[in-house]
Amino acid sequence: MARYPDRHSASIPALWEVQRRYGWCTPEGILQAAAVMRVTPAYLESVASFYDLLHTEPVGAHKVAVCTNISCWMRGADELLDAFRAAAEGEEDVYVTGFECLGACDIAPMASIDERYFGPLEAAEAATAIEQLRSGADVLPGKALAKRPLAGDSDA
Ligand code: FES
Repeated sequence: MARYPDRHSASIPALWEVQRRYGWCTPEGILQAAAVMRVTPAYLESVASFYDLLHTEPVGAHKVAVCTNISCWMRGADELLDAFRAAAEGEEDVYVTGFECLGACDIAPMASIDERYFGPLEAAEAATAIEQLRSGADVLPGKALAKRPLAGDSDA
């Protein structure tokens, strides 16, 4: 809260921490955050219910958000989302959802998997990614944005 001129501005980071701790924005977690922040639980609940990335009901421990906005849609996002949903069918630990632009249009079609970006993805890779999540393996290492070389890297 010290980072912001108004403590209410720390609501999203506080709710994000609640979600990291409990897997979703639980009533208990919201009560705890509200007590620390000296705001009402209803205020934090209203913030949590507004943002798609904050969950006010239990979801799977692994979260897959497939971008279905224009750049990704033009490159097969609907099929990619269908493939992720099919691969995660019956898997309570994996939450799959479509999402608006995640700001990584240059790797369309792409998905955020447990807060890491992957792309460009093919529908056939969805089942591999879900299996890797299940087994705890490194997810699609060749498609991880974090592992791409940067301009100026000596081996790029
Ligand atoms: S349209 Fe998919 S990341 Fe922007």
